[in-house]
This record gives sequence, C-alpha cells and structure tokens, in this order.
Amino acid sequence: CGIVGYIGTESVKDILLKGLEKLEYRGYDSAGLAIVDEKREDLQLVKEKGRIASLRDEVEKTKPEGTCGIGHTRWATHGAPSARNAHPHQSETKRFTLVHNGVIENYESLIEAYLSDVDLRSETDTEVIIQIMERFVSEGLAVNEAFRKTLSLLKGSYAIALLDGESDDRIYVGKNKSPLLVGMGEDANVVASDSMAMLHITKTFVELMDEEVVTVTRDGIWIQDLDGNEVQREPFTAELDESDTEKGTYAHYMLKEIDEQPLVIRNILQKYQDEANEIKLPNDIRTSFHAADRVYIIAAGTSYHAGLVGKELMEKVVGKPVEVHIASEFLYNQPLLSPNPLFIFISQSGETADCRGVLVNVKEAGHPSLTITNVPGSTLSREADHTLHTYAGPEIAVASTKAYTAQMAVLAILAMDGAHAAGSDTDFDALHELSIAANAMETLCDAKDDMEQIARDYLFETRNAFFIGRSFDYHVVQEGALKLKEISYIQAEGFAGGELKHGTIALIEEGTPVIALSTQENVDLNIRGNLQEVVARGANPCVVSMDGCHRADDQVVIPLVHAYLTPLVAVVPLQLISYYAALHRGCDVDKPRNLAKSVTVE
Ligand code: G6P
Repeated sequence: CGIVGYIGTESVKDILLKGLEKLEYRGYDSAGLAIVDEKREDLQLVKEKGRIASLRDEVEKTKPEGTCGIGHTRWATHGAPSARNAHPHQSETKRFTLVHNGVIENYESLIEAYLSDVDLRSETDTEVIIQIMERFVSEGLAVNEAFRKTLSLLKGSYAIALLDGESDDRIYVGKNKSPLLVGMGEDANVVASDSMAMLHITKTFVELMDEEVVTVTRDGIWIQDLDGNEVQREPFTAELDESDTEKGTYAHYMLKEIDEQPLVIRNILQKYQDEANEIKLPNDIRTSFHAADRVYIIAAGTSYHAGLVGKELMEKVVGKPVEVHIASEFLYNQPLLSPNPLFIFISQSGETADCRGVLVNVKEAGHPSLTITNVPGSTLSREADHTLHTYAGPEIAVASTKAYTAQMAVLAILAMDGAHAAGSDTDFDALHELSIAANAMETLCDAKDDMEQIARDYLFETRNAFFIGRSFDYHVVQEGALKLKEISYIQAEGFAGGELKHGTIALIEEGTPVIALSTQENVDLNIRGNLQEVVARGANPCVVSMDGCHRADDQVVIPLVHAYLTPLVAVVPLQLISYYAALHRGCDVDKPRNLAKSVTVE
C-alpha cells in the first residue's frame, strides 16, 4: 500500500493524485483521498475500487478543494478490495480520517476492550485505530495525546496519516515497521511512503523511526516519540529526479527496465571500481564478510532467486559456505546457525516485511548484517550494519527485471572482493566478465522480434509451461517461470532438469511448452537428455543455450559469457518472452493482478 499527504498553499487534489500514481506499484486494488478545508463544513472524501485512474475520474466529478489532504492506494490484506474497505477511513462522528499501511495484529482484542459498543463500518483492522482515537478525544484527551496513546496500544505494523476535520492546519503521522517519510518543501510539507511520490514537491525528506509520531503543519514538522518526548532529526536529499520515474517512449516500464539492464551493469561497474580498476568495497564490509564462517542470504520472490545465484558465486569464487533462505520461512523456523554467521538481506525495495522481521531478530542476537538493495534509504538499508547499493535506478514495473540482474552483479563483485580478502586464488575477474555480460545483454535486448516470435510459437495459446535447467541454469529457470506466471498468468514452473521426471513429468501433454536452458558446459548433455524425456511424451521444446554449447536448431543462443555470469544474460530472453506473452494475452504487464511491488506486511 502507499500513503501520501500534503499541507501547503496549493490545491491539494492533483498533488495527491500525482503522488498516488507514483505509488501505484505498491498496490492498486482501491484508492482514496481526503481533503480538509476549514471553509467547508464536511471533510471531503473520495474512494474508489480499482486503479488511481478510477479515483481520478471520481475526483474530476466531485472536485474536492483544499490545501491539506491525505491519500492512499491499497493492496488488500484484511477485507476484499472495495470502495467500502478502501482508505481513508473515518471515525464514528467523522471528525477523524486516516490512511494506514500495515497490519494491526491485535485488532480483535482492541475491539473487545474499547469498541464493543461501536458499529464498525468496514472489515478492516484500520478502522479500529481511528475509532479508538476518537474515543480518547471524546474522553478529554488532546488530539496529539490521543493519537500517541492509540498508537501505543497497537501491535503490528503501521504507517499512518490522519486528519482532524476540525482543523486544516495539520496532518498527524505515525510509523512502526512500515515505511514512511516526511518531506519539507517551500511553504508546504508532505508525507509519503516513498520519496518517489513527492519529488514534484520536494527532494528534502526526513526519515521516521519506529514508534514515532509527527505533527506536520504548513511551516514545520514536529517529531515525538510515543511518550511525547521531542525528537530532532536531520533531513536528507533524495538522489532521484522526477524523470527517473517516467517511462518515456516505452509502452511499459517493464520493457524499459529490461532494456536498461546493460546500462545498469555498467553503472555498477563504475560505482564499485577505483581509479586502478580494482574492486572498491568499504573496508568494514570486506572485514565482516571475511570474518564470517558462513553466509545466510535472506530474501523473497525474485530477490530470493538472485540469492540462489549468489550462493553459487560465493561458494565457487570464495569457497565460503552459503545458505539461502526464504525470509518468511526463516522468520518462524530458524535453522541452526554457525558460530560466526553473516546475514545478507537481498531486497529491491529494502522494505519487504518478511526480511525485516528476520533482520530485527538477527540484530537482537548480535549478528552482523548487510543489505543489498536498490533503495539506500530504505528500512532494511538503514537497519542493517552495512549496505551495498544496486544502482539500478527506480524499478516501477511490479515484475522485477533490472533489480534482479543488478543484485547478481553486486553479488559477483562481493564474491570477488571476498576472494581477494581471503587471498584465494581465483581466475574469475568479475569486473572484466561483467562488462562482457553487459554487452551480451545488449545483444539480446536488440533481438526483441525473435523473442516475440518465440512467445508466439510457444506461449500465446498455452495453459501452462515448464522451464528446466541445471546448476546455475536451474536458478534462472525458476526466475523465468516466476516472470511468466506473474505477468501472463500462465501456470509455469522452473525445475531442476533431473528432477522433472520424478513426478511433475506426469503433467506433460501433447504440445506442452518446455523451455530448457543450457549454458553450463558440464551439464549440457544431461539437460538435453532431460529435454528428450519430455519430448518423447509430447512436449514442445524450446532451447536457450550459450554460444559454445549450442546446437544448430536451438531457438536462442546467448553470446559467450563466463559460466558464473550466465544468469544475468540468460534471464533476458526469458524476461522478454514473458513480456510478449503477457502483452498478447492482454494482461496489464506493469501491474499484474493481485500483486504489489513492495510488500510491507508479513
Ligand atoms: C513482492 C514482489 C516481487 C518481489 C518480492 C521481493 O512480492 O511482487 O516481485 O520479488 O516482493 O521484493 P524485494 O523488494 O524484497 O526484492
């Protein structure tokens, strides 16, 4: 979900709508805004099911006016997507209106304790917050005090912006675990889940810490902890430009982001190289990595797939044992740890709640942590001991592409740096090999017509598809299958080549597409053998191989790159064929159904 708020001198409705459009990647089940204007008797509230575009249409009709307001775009957790469950929510007398991200875990016990006599209007945990708040005010507490008292009762995660219908000179803001920033502009201050949403107003932001509240007025911000103690914090400048978040001439962000990948890799090379063309990583990261007897990579979704490749790289290049864990599993079922672990969190957004949960535990246990992220000021980045930035630029399409390849590039650099620190003898020159990989990615990005043809031949009509690969390729086919599922809704799975026959082969029918990846010379014959097993049962085979271990009739041959970096290159055709399959099937490529880019709830 995404939150925006503005208080200033300009008409607020377009500012909020623009901000919400920038945050739409965080969820797009329903959206709403609330505007308070002392000249009007009632607070103006507009809510719609569906995209921001529907909200915009409604706003055009009702024309709410004022210079102070809040807005929200939702990814449903409690309660189905509907106008009724959309934010903002209002208290019983409608005096207070709020937007909320996160999950209040104890909302049922709060209802029992405070609201058993109130007829709740929505099915959300959010409404509980505002009803309790109103109760405290009716009992005589000042608004600020009631707000802090309410928040201190909540268990779970929240980012909140709240309006008091009786005054249009302040927005109340609170945060715990869910991300939220306050921005300072000229004659205006703003609230946003992500700085991206408010770059049209300001680039100066202040981070909020957990269990802090802020009173935002036209000329200032006042931060307090939940006990009411004042907190001072220096602002920072967002390094983004508004143009970084536009899609230009591209039909979709996803295609733009696929195309940006070679540039991103070159950018990473620049950032992590010194004048002598040697890898330059901060010393403290090098020391932490070197000191660890085992690395635990924690991630979710596509970042988890990058982690799987990271494990291969670190074990092969550095000789250090690495485990990769799905964050939500690790959180409640921690394996036995080695004596000196290093935790590496991989997260495009740096906000994934499942990862954050693990990080909190890791810190409590006193283990060192490193976050690899595309958003340096994000929660995971701030809270881990160290951060490595992936420099991919804002990734807007929900399905991750350039952030994934950037993560793997940074992992390769980290692995090579680790090898140097350990004095181990490796002939893997990550910097040189990454620049070759960037060129190869470019060649594949230029072959869009061929990829569209493959999508047409294999995926336009199919109900399902299988991807197989071995070793490094196994990890890439998992990602390839995820891309296809996410955006085209074709049921797809990525399998270890040798494993398909142990059960899943039962699903192969006449014409089932099976896409095999073969970039690893040592298992080329094996994977081709596995492909024959499914062809013998009617599958329609498609082979993506690498120059050097290819056959004349392979459908895609990727240029020769170092065996360890094939994932960066081999994923490009898989991304593109998913894109064209989704496009042809009329899917919303950038905003697939049911998904959100940054999942800030566990
Ligand atoms: C969400 C997105 C996925 C993403 C995952 C992890 O589920 O839909 O595309 O891979 O979160 O996100 P992160 O920001 O932690 O990499």
